[in-house]
Amino acid sequence: MTERAGTNEGVAPLLSLRGVEAAYEASQVLFGIDLEIHAGECVALLGRNGMGKSTTVKSIMGLLRLRGGDVRWRGRSLRPLAAHQRARVGLGLVPEGRRIFPNLTVRENLLATARAPAMRDAGWSLDDIYGMFPRLREREHHLGCHLSGGEQQMLAIGRALMTAPELLILDEATEGLAPLVRGDIWRCIELLKRRGLALLVIDKNLGPLMRVADRHYILEKGAVVWRGSSQALRDRPELVRDYIGM
Ligand SMILES: Nc1ncnc2c1ncn2[C@@H]1O[C@H](COP(=O)(O)OP(=O)(O)OP(=O)(O)O)[C@@H](O)[C@H]1O
Ligand SMILES: [Mg+2]
Repeated sequence: MTERAGTNEGVAPLLSLRGVEAAYEASQVLFGIDLEIHAGECVALLGRNGMGKSTTVKSIMGLLRLRGGDVRWRGRSLRPLAAHQRARVGLGLVPEGRRIFPNLTVRENLLATARAPAMRDAGWSLDDIYGMFPRLREREHHLGCHLSGGEQQMLAIGRALMTAPELLILDEATEGLAPLVRGDIWRCIELLKRRGLALLVIDKNLGPLMRVADRHYILEKGAVVWRGSSQALRDRPELVRDYIGM
């Protein structure tokens, strides 16, 4: 089942997955994922628990070895690159569960991943991050482990931005946050999109996701069962019922 938005036909994608297969030991989890993201595009990866969303992210980032298929960045295979090298080509990750450094301050967390100024043409400074999240400036000298869940999430986003990504992947960035804080995170995601960053967003909140995403992929048991625009998804409520369950 395919319903294409149609705006990027013929343009080389920033990121493309072709026939990606991945496994944890003997247990295969991804069965031939095809997916692409173009520059400046916001793409959502949908599906119920355990369908392979985070595993797809790990396959993109090189945190899990591919069993088959390929992940390409501007047409070049990322297979030879280790995870830390993929961050340097322009892939940024806000991982599931945040994973900030608990024993570093906010400022140290941000500077720990910062790229050298010469490499930061499209980059972010500490001031940019603090401008987007004033709360982080107030907490600049506090340890990561002393932050609230929302502050930790802002820090995880800020830290990923300091690597000057062209594509930012957010895996459940609003999970476990109070509604007000969740709103802050969605506003940040919208701002990043307006700044022209390509985004791959995984989130359980379909409402805000439909507003911000240009296109969606639905995963079911490690395979893409549907892809299409937000409008196409709105027109097919049975997809939400059958595959997303929200
Ligand atoms: N480290 C691991 N070792 C073994 N199996 C794993 C591991 N991580 C995930 N799995 C399994 O792989 C499958 C896909 O998991 P994955 O984390 O990709 O799902 P998900 O779509 O991100 O789900 P969720 O919405 O709960 O985050 C699940 O069956 C899960 O139990
Ligand atoms: Mg997950």
